[in-house]
Amino acid sequence: MSERIVVNEVSPRDGLQSQGKTLTVEQRLEMIQALLATGIRSIEVGSFVSPKAVPQMAGTDALFARLPMPDQVAYSALIPNAKGYELARAAGARSVAVVLSATETMNQRNIRMSLDETTAVCLELMQQARRDGLEARAYVAVAFECPFEGVTPAERVIALTQRLFDAGADKVIIADTIGAAHPTSVRGVLEPLRSLGLQERLSCHFHDTRGMALANVLASLDAGVREFDSSIGGLGGCPFSPGATGNLATEDLVLMLNAMGLNTGIDSLALVDAVQRVQALTETPLGGHSFRWLQRQHQAHREATHA
Ligand code: COA
Ligand code: ZN
Repeated sequence: MSERIVVNEVSPRDGLQSQGKTLTVEQRLEMIQALLATGIRSIEVGSFVSPKAVPQMAGTDALFARLPMPDQVAYSALIPNAKGYELARAAGARSVAVVLSATETMNQRNIRMSLDETTAVCLELMQQARRDGLEARAYVAVAFECPFEGVTPAERVIALTQRLFDAGADKVIIADTIGAAHPTSVRGVLEPLRSLGLQERLSCHFHDTRGMALANVLASLDAGVREFDSSIGGLGGCPFSPGATGNLATEDLVLMLNAMGLNTGIDSLALVDAVQRVQALTETPLGGHSFRWLQRQHQAHREATHA
């Protein structure tokens, strides 16, 4: 058996939160069904945040109530604070992800708390989730560069990551929120964490703003990371960080990992249908670097099987 890599699909949250068009709960559910049909089994369903701050995420509780439950599916929800935690738990979420931005300004802009306050809240929520038997996940956002403060010191990201693990985090997601990382900066954060033996408890979240997301995935694989976030068609961005464009496209990630002989459990041709479905739902042109090529393979496959 080839080595298993978890591809965690974040389009229903990271993708939709910055879209001009707000999808209904029904449409968000349809999107999740299209994602499940590709073999994707790890999905960030949405966030429990203020609907005034992010109207696109209103109704995540109703969405949780209607989620399909195929074998082995792992759903998570993003939460910014204790209120979000309570709402997520009440909605039946089994896994929550807090967001700790590595810089002062980003925390203020994103969730209106200082870095110290956010750190304290996140550590407390990790402990709480563990006590309640939920999976405790934590993003360290702007882990390489902040749109307000510039380059983020790797030592700070490493120290925050260690504190989150000490508080009981199951997984820490090193997030390049604005897509400014490159393989050398990725190694600068991940290699020290690997030397602490933490690589298998990490995930990486890259945006493809400067076209380096897959190179960063490769650097992360070399550092022992076995889980990645991605978003169908590259849908994504953060409404609170100027210049953040789309996430690493799921089709690009899956195509590369599958080609490398790693086991994602996801059918790359089936992703074409999902990209098209999400494109229609969001009314946004979508597709990663490989999309046109994949579309041709998909078409050829269809013709061959219907001949
Ligand atoms: N979910 C839903 N509503 C929430 C909430 C949550 N997690 N946390 C707070 N609220 C509500 C409060 O109940 C209050 O409602 P009211 O105005 O009806 O009384 C209102 O939001 C303001 O509460 P307050 O604690 O003063 O929050 P704030 O105005 O300082 O905003 C956040 C803080 C975190 C709630 C808000 O900035 C937010 O939701 N940000 C989301 C950021 C995000 O999603 N970023 C992208 C992903 S990283
Ligand atoms: Zn993101």
